[in-house]
Amino acid sequence: MSNANSHTRPVSNPLNADEIFGVAGMAAGVIPGVTAKRPRIFAVANQKGGVGKTTTAINLGTALAAVGRRVLILDIDPQGNASTGLGLGRAARHGTSYDVLMGDADILATVLETQIPGLFVTPADVNLSGAEIELADHPRRAFRLRDALARLKPESGAQSGHEPFDYVLIDCPPSLNILTVNAMTAADSVLVPLQCEFFALEGLTQLMKTVEIVRANLNPGLDIQGVVLTMYDKRTSLSDLVAADVRAHFGDKVYATMIPRNVRVSEAPSYGKPALLYDHRCIGSQAYIQLASELLQRERARLAA
Ligand SMILES: Nc1ncnc2c1ncn2[C@@H]1O[C@H](COP(=O)(O)OP(=O)(O)OP(=O)(O)O)[C@@H](O)[C@H]1O
Ligand SMILES: [Mg+2]
Repeated sequence: MSNANSHTRPVSNPLNADEIFGVAGMAAGVIPGVTAKRPRIFAVANQKGGVGKTTTAINLGTALAAVGRRVLILDIDPQGNASTGLGLGRAARHGTSYDVLMGDADILATVLETQIPGLFVTPADVNLSGAEIELADHPRRAFRLRDALARLKPESGAQSGHEPFDYVLIDCPPSLNILTVNAMTAADSVLVPLQCEFFALEGLTQLMKTVEIVRANLNPGLDIQGVVLTMYDKRTSLSDLVAADVRAHFGDKVYATMIPRNVRVSEAPSYGKPALLYDHRCIGSQAYIQLASELLQRERARLAA
């Protein structure tokens, strides 16, 4: 890539789609009809902390990249976990989503390569925690990200030497603040990770209300792309009860694929790697591959409708 960043660590052929997916039809470029003219933008959101937003953004993004999609993970959480989990130390984060939101950087100039071919990241840093106050007086404060992402149109990318992205996954902070509202205003759809725990549905009314408000006032096309059950533990009946409850509530918006609780998934970020690169055979990685496959099926169905 033309603006390869010296801080990234490309690895030769770290992911082999055939090996990972084990299905010839899933190999790069084989799935027809899912590459949109402009990227599909998903806000990965849930104001509850620790439910698997970042893990889902990283590993779903990796699985999509492994089948030939070009994916940008846009980290807008001041914690910067997606950036760290993809192996980008603080020193590597020259241009960040904070600079993009403040209008100080073109998003295309902030995009960094990761170890996964086809997977890119715009990192975040702690400056974002002041964004709420800094944007308070700005008349278009909810549209900052949407305006910035307009630069990802294929024409703009071509001018700057970037190939267009197929998907942008916005990793939101655990809050329904101006950052998450910016993500929902910029997004086509919201992807909601939901942890299989007793209070899983608590707070979802608030999340859905926020989606409604954004749809009514800022982004009429916004919908819920899907709900992903995370940290599913098949040994506990609680996980099954929660899953049944969530399915009763959200119907077929809930992905059939459930992400199991898996220690390999939780270890991977400390090595700066997606679980799929750390151990692509573990059950967590396999579930994210399955989730990507289901997402692409949904995308195909949407385009065919
Ligand atoms: N499937 C899983 N199995 C085991 N551990 C997991 C799994 N998914 C996520 N975790 C771990 O749970 C913790 C929370 O996950 P993650 O950071 O993805 O959640 P989050 O919703 O992004 O959190 P925050 O709200 O703080 O941004 C992390 O330590 C992560 O490694
Ligand atoms: Mg997170």
